[in-house]
Amino acid sequence: MLNLSKMPAMPKERIIYLNGEFKPQSEAKISVLDHGLMYGDGCFDAWTGRNGFIFELDPHLDRLYRSIFSLRLKMHLSKEELRATIVETVKRNALKDFYIKVLVTRGASPEPVIDPRKCGECSVIVFVRPVQTEISEEQKQRGVRVKVLGEKRIDHDTVEPKVKSLNYLHIVLGKLEAWAAGYDEAVFMDVRGNICECPGFNILAVTGNKLYTPQHDILVGITRNSMISMAKEKGMEIEQGSYTLYDFINADEVLITNTVAGVSPVGEIDGYVIGTGKQGPVTKYFGDTYDAWMQSGVRGTQCFPEAWEK
Ligand SMILES: Cc1ncc(COP(=O)(O)O)c(C=O)c1O
Repeated sequence: MLNLSKMPAMPKERIIYLNGEFKPQSEAKISVLDHGLMYGDGCFDAWTGRNGFIFELDPHLDRLYRSIFSLRLKMHLSKEELRATIVETVKRNALKDFYIKVLVTRGASPEPVIDPRKCGECSVIVFVRPVQTEISEEQKQRGVRVKVLGEKRIDHDTVEPKVKSLNYLHIVLGKLEAWAAGYDEAVFMDVRGNICECPGFNILAVTGNKLYTPQHDILVGITRNSMISMAKEKGMEIEQGSYTLYDFINADEVLITNTVAGVSPVGEIDGYVIGTGKQGPVTKYFGDTYDAWMQSGVRGTQCFPEAWEK
């Protein structure tokens, strides 16, 4: 349990880390010539935390540094320095349950033209905010309604989807397409017509004792990896491969996962009801286990060790 009386006082305004300084959000400003703003030239990652524990700090950090390397960004902070900065930003915001987002852009250019060679130091931003649900409890209870998108997920021979880049335009548009059509969420097919992933979520299915999930052209989600390890511990068969819509609408259960929303049951895809249309037992087991891990500090890094009492 986190002893709240031993936590630091909460600041009046949210604190942001920006390029070497911790600032109140209203004072955290970035150049209009930043390549991240002008060209989506950068990458990001996101974490979540409960009871002061950052869940899977290092796997997300490793993924962020793989994105940084792939984009040839000249990052001046080492992984260890950024790790300490993230923990410090959580501490300064004195939040018990939180969401963290780190952005790394190529930095400011001298002119509003594309010349990545002329950018200065990378811009590094660390946001921490209270936890907010992306999928509501009501949606989780009744099962998330998912639309199959007309637009395909960007293929790895254009922009590698394993890179969590700032090029999220098709993901933004995918969400808008789903919401405009009255759905809760959406799923992209890949360019070959296989089920791929959702705008901001991975998608997995369960049939009998088998967990299966698309392998190609996805962001390899940390929550997806948690599902795979839970399924292994439960003695389930695990398969990563290529699946059509047919394979998913005929599954016993379908679930979508991400860092913010955790585990959410899918009730229907494009009008096809999945299983009973409600949360199935395996999805419930994954969701409950995930919540228990987060609350108790499994795979967690405690930001307030002085306030943590077992
Ligand atoms: C495109 C995409 N796929 C999948 C995910 C899920 O990844 P994670 O579980 O690491 O949050 C995200 C997370 O934001 C995402 O943006």
